[in-house]
Amino acid sequence: MAFPENFITELVERSDITEVVSGYVRLSKKSGSNLFGLCPFHSEKTPSFSVSPDKQIYHCFGCGKGGGVISFIMEIENLSFPEAVEFLARRANMPLPEQTDSAESRKRERMLALNKEAARFFREQLVSPGGEPGREYLARRRIGNKAATNFGLGFAPASWDSLETAMREKGFSDFELLDAGLVRRGKNGGFYDTFRNRLMFPVIDVRGNVIGFSGRILGDDEPKYMNSPETLVFNKSRNLFAMNLAKKSKSGYLILAEGNIDVVSLHQAGFDSAVASLGTSLTPEQARLISRYTNQVVIAYDNDGAGLKASQRAIGILEKLDLRVKVLRMSGAKDPDEFIQNKGPEAFRKLLEDAENQIDYRLKTVTDKYDLSVDEQKVDFLKEATELVARLPGAVERQVYAMRVAALAQVKEEPVLDEVERRRKRMLNSARQAMEREQSRPERQLQPADRELRYTDPGSAAAEEGLVRLLYLDPALGKTEGLPPPEDFSSPALGRIYGAIRGKIDRGEAVSTATLTEQLSLSEMSLLVELLQKPELLSRGEKTLREYIDKMREQKELASGRQDLRALANKLRERKGYEG
Ligand code: CTP
Ligand code: MN
Repeated sequence: MAFPENFITELVERSDITEVVSGYVRLSKKSGSNLFGLCPFHSEKTPSFSVSPDKQIYHCFGCGKGGGVISFIMEIENLSFPEAVEFLARRANMPLPEQTDSAESRKRERMLALNKEAARFFREQLVSPGGEPGREYLARRRIGNKAATNFGLGFAPASWDSLETAMREKGFSDFELLDAGLVRRGKNGGFYDTFRNRLMFPVIDVRGNVIGFSGRILGDDEPKYMNSPETLVFNKSRNLFAMNLAKKSKSGYLILAEGNIDVVSLHQAGFDSAVASLGTSLTPEQARLISRYTNQVVIAYDNDGAGLKASQRAIGILEKLDLRVKVLRMSGAKDPDEFIQNKGPEAFRKLLEDAENQIDYRLKTVTDKYDLSVDEQKVDFLKEATELVARLPGAVERQVYAMRVAALAQVKEEPVLDEVERRRKRMLNSARQAMEREQSRPERQLQPADRELRYTDPGSAAAEEGLVRLLYLDPALGKTEGLPPPEDFSSPALGRIYGAIRGKIDRGEAVSTATLTEQLSLSEMSLLVELLQKPELLSRGEKTLREYIDKMREQKELASGRQDLRALANKLRERKGYEG
């Protein structure tokens, strides 16, 4: 552990979760001892985010996120465990103790050192004789030396082991390269370079660490990009390409583009606040990162159907954080890079200045679809436009835009206003009903919200959850004979939580959300907190524990029995001579 246990315990005691959360969420008392507010981690209209002052945990019934005060800060401030601890310590006026390096933080540091060396290697390759294909590509895309240097661009040669060899010479092992996602494992057990014959973009976080890479192929094939996998230091959904540069921009707004080439090209043309997400659509975590540096975002996605859809989604996520959002409308170019290459930076600046706020933008998109001189089309237009206006959260805004719609269609204002409000009511009702239905679905109560945490055997899941819950609440039960190994859990995540709790018990350490936060991922913490919500009768703890263990065993046997039967059925079918 990087921090002594008693330090963490005292820190958490001095960081009341209600006070900390109140800095981000308006909480009010609703039922029992819990406080409720609008969840800061997903978009919602009715509060499903709860804080328990007694248990010192938070949990959202909508998106499933949960944890203790440290997880909350990690999640909302986009910080690692030690950073969140430092953040809270400063808030609580507690000096940080001497840190004994944990194995994990040493590993993290090694990986960052390796990434930096790899970036240097790719860079050297680009300027070496073998880097001709990379240089040619840059020339073709009209990316100059200055921009290439600014971004630390490099070239991965078309070789299976050039990076591996170079890094081993620097003292890194194949396994370190594997963990960092720089090599992969071949069928014969050997290792080969992940990135080959690609233009390399180091991904650098806001603290200046090289956390991963994007490699672009040198042609027009799809997919264009290959990104580092998730590693100890790289998480695609929490970082943005070029955020390290954009955060220093004086422009006052941030430009969100799709491709790395677009970003480089924008910076080269003087738009130094451009960033791109790393191959996923914009995530709430990325939006939060953005909101730390600016309150205005201009979306400059590609000028196609996919780009349009991605824009709409991004708008929703950004507005949730009170960011002002504008959408760029480019004509005659497929993306910002092409626009700048064809029409020059000045034309692009004009585009930025004229960028519309998103309601105007969406209304215009709808207007363009219809010929308003044809009655039938006018009716369809009114339907779609009032639907759009109904979604606006502000009443005044709805009124203003309803009047605009009436003017566009040349009809009376009154009925349009009524229609908007009618639709809004209907929308809110069906949203509420959908949520209630969702909450009461039985499989929903057994399945964690996060896809990665899904159970393979829901039949056993309730027992597994119960087992974890009991051990957490009453660690003395950890001495019980016949406890299953973590591998027996039908969800790996639950198995990891269970393993972490048992590890603490075996070492005689305290079991609490605070002490588990360092070992578990944020989504595992959420799962733990979620299952702690359910009641458990501690008075008959040992008996219940036995029942859970038996149930797990029974389900396991059932499952393997089912597998045997399936195998048997397959064999029989084969014998009969038709395909199964
Ligand atoms: N993408 C990705 N990984 C990245 C960056 C982008 O997978 N690190 C994906 C995006 O999700 C998007 C596409 O690649 O689907 C971006 O494409 P585009 O803008 O076309 O890329 P550019 O490099 O700008 O290439 P081009 O100049 O050909 O448009
Ligand atoms: Mn592009």
